[in-house]
Amino acid sequence: MRLEGKVAIITGGGNGIGRETAALFVREGTKVCVADYDETAGQRVVDELLAIADECAMFVKVDVSSAESVEHMARAVIESWGTPDILINNAGITQDSMLTKMSIEQWQRVIDVNLNGVFYCTRFIAPYMVERGKGKIINTSSIVGMHGNIGQTNYAATKAGVIGMTKTWAKELGHKGIRVNAVAPGYVETGMVANVPDKVLQLMLDKVPLHRLGRPSDIAHAYLYLASDESDYVNGTVLEVNGGLVI
Ligand code: CAA
Ligand code: NAI
Repeated sequence: MRLEGKVAIITGGGNGIGRETAALFVREGTKVCVADYDETAGQRVVDELLAIADECAMFVKVDVSSAESVEHMARAVIESWGTPDILINNAGITQDSMLTKMSIEQWQRVIDVNLNGVFYCTRFIAPYMVERGKGKIINTSSIVGMHGNIGQTNYAATKAGVIGMTKTWAKELGHKGIRVNAVAPGYVETGMVANVPDKVLQLMLDKVPLHRLGRPSDIAHAYLYLASDESDYVNGTVLEVNGGLVI
């Protein structure tokens, strides 16, 4: 087992990539807090995991866009299981629109969840990791944060911002025993891509040398590497997992 005896918080663990990651991490010996806004999905994931191993998972409802809610989530995990070894800032949303049609609400909500959410979770968990002198923080960026994408001004800004925070925290916290890295997936088969028009999805697929979308497990295994001791000398990197969509 590559993560035996560790404790992980996975935001957005109720669906898609986060859900797959929660299952993989439990199989690798970790206790997982599924921290999600979607109570039904999050609780279902935890129920499935508890059938595999006793006390390997817990659900905490959180809205990562609220500092108060994140502080409550952090306290709940620490009171139950102590300082987490791993924080995966995976929760995210899209509200796509062309720049000239994008509403202020669409802009603000995506910033609140994808950018502020990553800051709040890390702000509340990192001090405990520092106190203990170790920890792994993994932020979820996107190919869109590196290259931009039509219809995603808000989302691209957040995912580029996540890379900036990743590198900043890698510099601030590296000598305190914390490793901070990001994963930048390409298009992955989850609910998030379900609303992408077929024409656009086909455009993307045509550019992927592997001729397939990413699978949640492709990203979960990248998280696993960055969460494990095997990546101890990896800090401040952005691991691209996109099948070669941009080469
Ligand atoms: N790449 C290339 N072309 C795109 C595009 C994209 N991402 N998005 C739209 N276009 C093209 C359309 O095909 C269309 O072309 P034609 O005029 O030749 O038909 C043109 O731009 C205008 O698009 P729409 O007619 O659809 O305009 P709209 O105002 O009705 O809708 C939109 C705009 C909401 C942005 C819609 O086009 C859309 O949903 N596009 C997809 C955006 C996208 O790729 N989102 C990714 C979601 S998954 C994700 O975000 C995860 C991740 O990190 C990768
Ligand atoms: P998903 O939509 O399947 O899952 C996202 C999860 O985040 C859901 O369980 C949702 O309830 C939760 N969430 C949303 N808002 C929240 C909030 N305010 N507080 C707490 N939880 C919240 O999406 P997917 O695809 O699994 O995405 C996971 C991460 O991967 C996101 O950060 C996304 O931006 C990123 N990503 C996804 C790609 C894709 O193609 N699917 C590509 C690149 C990055």
